Amino acid sequence: MSSLAGKRLLVSGAGSGIGQAAARLFRERGAELVLVGRRLDRLRETLPDAQCFTLDHTNDADVAAFAATCPPLAGMFLAAGELRTGSVAAMPVSDFDAVLAANLRGPWLLAHHLGPRLTDGASVVLVGSNISLRAIPNSAAYSVAKAGVHMLAKVLALEWAPRRIRCNAIAPGPVHTPMLAVRLAASADPTGDLARLAAVNPLQRLGTSAEVAALAAHLLCDESAWTTGTVLAIDGGADAVY
Ligand SMILES: NC(=O)c1ccc[n+]([C@@H]2O[C@H](COP(=O)([O-])OP(=O)(O)OC[C@H]3O[C@@H](n4cnc5c(N)ncnc54)[C@H](OP(=O)(O)O)[C@@H]3O)[C@@H](O)[C@H]2O)c1
Repeated sequence: MSSLAGKRLLVSGAGSGIGQAAARLFRERGAELVLVGRRLDRLRETLPDAQCFTLDHTNDADVAAFAATCPPLAGMFLAAGELRTGSVAAMPVSDFDAVLAANLRGPWLLAHHLGPRLTDGASVVLVGSNISLRAIPNSAAYSVAKAGVHMLAKVLALEWAPRRIRCNAIAPGPVHTPMLAVRLAASADPTGDLARLAAVNPLQRLGTSAEVAALAAHLLCDESAWTTGTVLAIDGGADAVY
């Protein structure tokens, strides 16, 4: 089991889904948590005794102000993100900009402003997506943003290496969370969509937030000390399918 004892870790998007499960798991494994998201009540629901901060990670001035008061960190799990679908032809440019901001500008700003708050030997995990490893239609804005996140992790691994700070990205397949629930609620055939999502991978099921959180815990702990600059798919084997 990955011990996180004695580490102060920041989790973005900690008010729901994968970020919430991760924050709770990291606490169980001994970490002190700093939680950020736009809804304070949701953060407090995740872990009532954690340090919770309201923050829109797309806002440069707000992230800079937060970083100025943030205590030193032994790691970050940047899970905040937003899914909007639509073809390149149909998606309004305003949606494209919003998706790029929520999924790429946010992690970039957090890395930019909080990088100096990381202690030497820290570990950072960014959340990408397996639909940025293999293309599907009607996902271009989200997919290119998450592909940018994958490369951001690699570049940060190089830039932070002199301080022994590691950076990796994980690329989950579909996971049962509020994000997926919103997507299914908008579908004309939610049951069929769910079955099709599960059928894509060899293990024939969706993932769970707990499984994704466990991978993040491994990457944040000292057992993974030689792992940096990688993008790890966690998708039931979907990335292996021809
Ligand atoms: N679920 C999946 O199938 C799946 C698959 C691959 C990758 N992912 C990725 O996994 C991560 C977690 O997603 P999830 O499924 O757990 O979805 P979720 O439950 O909707 O969580 C997303 C979180 O991001 C936060 N957030 C969104 N925009 C933000 C902003 N501008 N500033 C600060 N926080 C913001 C939201 O909090 P507030 O609204 O309170 O701010 C929310 O807590 C995301 O990056 C997502 O893209 C999910």
